[in-house]
Amino acid sequence: MSSRHLSAFDRALIQFDQALHTLVPGTARAQRANPAKSELEADLDAKERHHTAGLMRINHTGEICAQALYQGQALTAKLGKVRAAMSQAAQEEVDHLAWCEQQLKALDSRPSVLNPLFYGASLALGAAAGLLGDKISLGFVAATEEQVCRHLREHLDQLPIQDQANRAVLTQMLDDEEKHGTVALEAGGTRFPRWIKRAMKQASKAMTATTYRI
Ligand SMILES: [Fe+2]
Ligand SMILES: [Fe+2]
Repeated sequence: MSSRHLSAFDRALIQFDQALHTLVPGTARAQRANPAKSELEADLDAKERHHTAGLMRINHTGEICAQALYQGQALTAKLGKVRAAMSQAAQEEVDHLAWCEQQLKALDSRPSVLNPLFYGASLALGAAAGLLGDKISLGFVAATEEQVCRHLREHLDQLPIQDQANRAVLTQMLDDEEKHGTVALEAGGTRFPRWIKRAMKQASKAMTATTYRI
């Protein structure tokens, strides 16, 4: 069905369904195999396991935010020719979400209880950026991906050396996120000034500090 035939109620139902698929564990379906599957599970002591679970919980919440950002953007931005590229990126984010969830489970851990809160905030931000026009909306995607890449590099440095499974997941994610940022800029996204990026960095610190623990 073409989107212009959808009523506001239809759109609200679709959005609700997307929110459930993002937030309810076990409902995100990856299209690509989890890169961790080809690696042997590492022998981690209690401290390493706890730290790795904290890092993977941050990454999982980051992917919830990415879902919400792309969903918010799809609601309000025009996007035109780049809509297909953006939905390809959004599908790759579903893979990331499913992989992070699987990795948390393998660590006997769980996603953050704060995820609905971060989902709502990111959906609103994505939709607001979309209302400001495609250049801003795509610029916001690029700036967000830049931030995500920084986190992923830090986490790759912090993972226990023997943990090849989580390393494989984060490495593939880093590869994808770099590509998403480039696609958004090449599609006409504005390069955000440093002060906005600094503000985004501060906001992301609130997310990482809380979701590492809860
Ligand atoms: Fe992602
Ligand atoms: Fe991404």
